[in-house]
Amino acid sequence: MAAKKIVKLKKAQKKASGKKSAAGLKTLAFDIGGSGLKASMLDENGKMTTERVRVDTPKPCTPALLLEKLKELTAQLPPFDRVSVGFPGPVRKGRTLSATNLGSDEWIGFDLQRAIAKQTGKPTRVINDADMQGLGAIKGEGVEMVITLGTGLGSALFEDGRLAPHIELAHIPFRKGQTYEDQLGNRALKKVGKNEWNRRLARAVDVFRALTHFDKLYIGGGNAANVSLNLGPDVEIVSNVLGMRGGIWLWKDTNLSDGLQK
Ligand code: BGC
Repeated sequence: MAAKKIVKLKKAQKKASGKKSAAGLKTLAFDIGGSGLKASMLDENGKMTTERVRVDTPKPCTPALLLEKLKELTAQLPPFDRVSVGFPGPVRKGRTLSATNLGSDEWIGFDLQRAIAKQTGKPTRVINDADMQGLGAIKGEGVEMVITLGTGLGSALFEDGRLAPHIELAHIPFRKGQTYEDQLGNRALKKVGKNEWNRRLARAVDVFRALTHFDKLYIGGGNAANVSLNLGPDVEIVSNVLGMRGGIWLWKDTNLSDGLQK
């Protein structure tokens, strides 16, 4: 059969089965933050194909309000095939367990994955925001840790590219009766200033090093730009955009309950 005919036939088969090959799939990625809700479109390689769109996070942000805002953001973007979501709290099989920085108890046990799938009519995957950012940042070699510094403090751990069970360091006691997030979150940065915040960060990194023996620690999030101390050759500051790009990796492993593999 002539090459042209084969291509035509394949296209017709694809249309009939209603499926696109992974090569053409467009992923809508949401990054839900304590201060901003961001959305962007990714191609099959995780490259952003549109400008990032953003709205302020409502305060408090209930599930109903979040869904409304995500609808507004979606309307500003081209059509898509599936949805990836990074959520600022622990998530178990698409259900949110809590969300300290969204200020609503309605997040306890809310099936956000199902709600977004219903609203968009597209397959949807929701994971913790630091886990998603981490998937975008890591190289997939050895023990890699990721922390994100923004409104809250996100944390994720990987071994040879495989996402470990989610670790929540944010609300664990750190020093002076305060948690890591109390000491290193955005509110703390504003209160104590850059120098003291950097000194605290250096101490926290020493604890994380002792805790995980990471080969590499990546620091992302909006406040990573305020890191001014040299934290060591095993620490790297990464761009915030990786948070979004991590959205593509949610689809690389079909068995979510078995962990994600980059
Ligand atoms: C939450 C984490 C989240 C981090 C960054 C913390 O308050 O407990 O799950 O990753 O904020 O959004």
